[in-house]
Amino acid sequence: MSQTPQTAGDGTADTVTLIDNRNGKQVTLPILHGATGPDVIDIRKLYAATGCFTYDPGFTSTGSCESAITYIDGDEGVLLHRGYPIEQLAEKSDFLEVCYLLLNGELPNPEQKAKFEQTITRHTMVHEQLANFFRGFRRDAHPMAIMCGVVGALSAFYHDSTDINDPTQRIIASHRLIAKVPTIAAMAYKYSVGQPFVYPRNDLGFAENFLHMTFAVPCEQYKVNPVIAKAMDKIFILHADHEQNASTSTVRLAGSSGANPFACIAAGIASLWGPAHGGANEAVLKMLEEIKSVDRIPEFIKRAKDKNDNFRLMGFGHRVYKNYDPRAKVMQQTCKEVLAELGIKDDPLLDIAVELERIALSDEYFIEKKLYPNVDFYSGIILKAIGFPTSMFTVLFALARTVGWISQWKEMIEDPTQKIGRPRQLYTGHVTRDFVPLNERG
Ligand code: ACO
Repeated sequence: MSQTPQTAGDGTADTVTLIDNRNGKQVTLPILHGATGPDVIDIRKLYAATGCFTYDPGFTSTGSCESAITYIDGDEGVLLHRGYPIEQLAEKSDFLEVCYLLLNGELPNPEQKAKFEQTITRHTMVHEQLANFFRGFRRDAHPMAIMCGVVGALSAFYHDSTDINDPTQRIIASHRLIAKVPTIAAMAYKYSVGQPFVYPRNDLGFAENFLHMTFAVPCEQYKVNPVIAKAMDKIFILHADHEQNASTSTVRLAGSSGANPFACIAAGIASLWGPAHGGANEAVLKMLEEIKSVDRIPEFIKRAKDKNDNFRLMGFGHRVYKNYDPRAKVMQQTCKEVLAELGIKDDPLLDIAVELERIALSDEYFIEKKLYPNVDFYSGIILKAIGFPTSMFTVLFALARTVGWISQWKEMIEDPTQKIGRPRQLYTGHVTRDFVPLNERG
């Protein structure tokens, strides 16, 4: 990746020139080239040269940072982590290996893999005092509310890894987050159902341990189903990172001020919670339940297309993918495997999902707007079949995305050009006016 303008074949640098038609002033801006994907116009000097800002609400045309972690080609439906296609990682790798890859840039060798697994495994317990935090929440609290609070509270427990200027502390905080967020997620679930917390077990793999902490109870033996553990691990891989999405950008923005990593990840969890982002998998299931039967699908398709109705087909559409989300394809296959393993032959929700997908993919509205199923479309059905309540779906997304957030945070802190994120605005409010005393206001 280059931060310097490239020289074109004819010897002139790649630039773009803007002309202000009000006064004829010109500004020439460099064009930067990444390893692949769209070039960017470097506008850092624009304000100084013209007195103008750019305006891009929703950041649809804005590259906010330089990154070497994840690449998405939304038109082709491609997702790469450190260059490796998501389909290959989902099939051949495992979640902890993907964590190592995202965090360190390369796949681990056998020795590095064993050491990393041991480190993460040995960080899964949380400070015993942290359990007291849970007791302050109502039993019916949404587990994402608990996640925001308790993950943020980690900064009050692990002072020895909050100095962001110390590379060793940064990596310890990263390991702690990858290891402890699953424990907190399982505790959030246990708290909501009134069961005792289950401690992590070091003899289990990452996904197995999470399933154990979630579904085991002290009074009987719980045996983790290996097919379900494998599916869970795959779901984690599929959610591990996704470039500069809303929650990742939130983590970067929070971190840009120098905030500690635990607080930054809590900010990411808050952003993920929204139904337009990570909350969509919960919303998909609610929508399928609302549709109830295949014959009612046309009614909902009609509503989704109606401009005066704010109903949207949840699990469809994506800001970047204008093609089939590659993660959704893997998820669809995993969904079939899980339902077969659990002996669920006729899941009415799956029937609705399959038919909804078929209709939407052949409907002019969805074709024209390039609305394809996204990763959340099938994940809800799998998670429900495994036994998670809908309120836990986004928590599982947060658990998996923690590694992406922390890798992006670390990359940002280690970028020598990093500055506090401070966007400007197009001000449309009142200009200066004099204060009116209370007794003179109408
Ligand atoms: N159902 C019906 N129409 C839709 C849908 C949908 N799911 N998604 C987009 N559209 C329409 C919009 O109404 C809009 O129509 P218009 O051009 O006539 O105004 C057009 O498609 C473009 O939509 P935008 O909202 O402008 O696209 P944007 O890129 O901002 O939104 C988003 C992307 C938020 C994901 C959107 O597609 C959506 O709300 N989908 C449903 C929620 C969802 O599944 N979110 C999960 C995203 S993936 C993730 O976070 C892991």
